[in-house]
Formats: sequence, C-alpha cells, structure tokens
Amino acid sequence: MTVSIIVAIGKNGEIGKGNSLLCHLPADLKHFKEITSGHTIIMGRKTFESLPSGALPNRRNIVISRNSELKLEGAEVCQSLDYAFLKLVDENEVFIIGGAQIYELALPFADRLYITKIHAAFPDADVFFPDVDFRKWKETGRTFFPADEKNLYACTFCEYQSIF
Ligand SMILES: NC(=O)c1ccc[n+]([C@@H]2O[C@H](COP(=O)([O-])OP(=O)(O)OC[C@H]3O[C@@H](n4cnc5c(N)ncnc54)[C@H](OP(=O)(O)O)[C@@H]3O)[C@@H](O)[C@H]2O)c1
Repeated sequence: MTVSIIVAIGKNGEIGKGNSLLCHLPADLKHFKEITSGHTIIMGRKTFESLPSGALPNRRNIVISRNSELKLEGAEVCQSLDYAFLKLVDENEVFIIGGAQIYELALPFADRLYITKIHAAFPDADVFFPDVDFRKWKETGRTFFPADEKNLYACTFCEYQSIF
C-alpha cells in the first residue's frame, strides 16, 4: 500500500483557518479530484466536518476520530490511523487529505507527497503543515499554474517520493 499525502500549503506552511481552507482555488480542487478519484481518502474528523457537501463522491471516505459512537453519512469512522491502515492494507494507494493533526500522524509513514504550493501568505491562518525534512524526499514533478480570473493566486503542483 502506498501512503500519499495531498495538501495545499501557503508560503508560511499554513493550511487552513477557522476550519476551512485558506482560499478558493478551482485549479487546485480540480487537481485534487483528478488525483484522488477512485481511491481511498483518509481525513480527520474536523476536515470531514469542513466539507461543504459531506463525504466526497467516487472515493472511499475514512474519518479518524477518537469518538467510538460517531456515525457519518458516506464515511467509515476509524479510531486510529493505525487501524485505518490495517483495514486498507490491500489497497494500492491511499490518500491522507488532512488536516494538520492527521498530516502530523501520517507523515512518518508517507511514501509520496502531493503538495500544492500556493504563492501567497495567509496571516490569519490557524493550522499548519508539519515540518518536512526535504533531504528525505526526491522531487518527481513540478507544474506551475498562473493566477487567472478564477484563481486569485498562482500555485505550483509539486510531487515528491520518499527516498528512505
Ligand atoms: N490546505 C489543505 O490542503 C487542507 C486539507 C485538509 C484540511 N485542511 C484544513 O485543516 C483544518 C483542520 O485540521 P485540524 O488539524 O484542525 O483537524 P483534523 O486533523 O482534520 O481533525 C482532527 C480530529 O481528528 C481526530 N484525531 C486526531 N488525532 C487522532 C488520533 N491520534 N487518534 C484518533 N483520532 C484523532 C480527532 O477527532 P475527534 O475530536 O472526533 O476525536 C481530532 O479532533 C481546517 O482548517 C481544514 O480546512 C487543509
């Protein structure tokens, strides 16, 4: 099973504010959909709650929560990331889609990183991606996307493969 992390990060490592995303970037949402569709996605309970229409379609949704009573429409709840990985061991590639707490838990197990670098800073952000030691990662892809009338900020879609 390949464990992939997918995230959009501002210039200062920020990933969210007030339990929502930093900004609306349709180009990044399209990129996210293309990469994750047909796969299993794993997220924290707060990220699930932040989704505007609940579980994401065409993907198996797994939500991590300590609450053993929690029932969610369209998603399976697991009480730990370890348990989720055990359950998913036969899957080809699973995607960790956030938020900060779940990225922190998953980073030591990740094989791939899909990082959208947003070329802007968001001073009111309140959640951040954990520090990454890029000596342990090889860049395998990089595509620049300029700002346009629909996307207020330019971004770069980066891919990394673990070299350990
Ligand atoms: N920029 C991006 O790409 C991106 C992507 C996703 C999310 N985000 C943003 O990230 C923010 C949310 O992140 P967050 O860090 O606040 O929350 P989160 O990681 O989405 O969810 C946190 C919840 O996960 C559960 N959890 C955490 N550690 C656990 C453990 N060890 N065992 C079992 N359950 C555990 C707990 O749920 P219970 O309280 O139910 O026990 C905890 O409250 C939002 O602003 C969101 O928009 C950004």
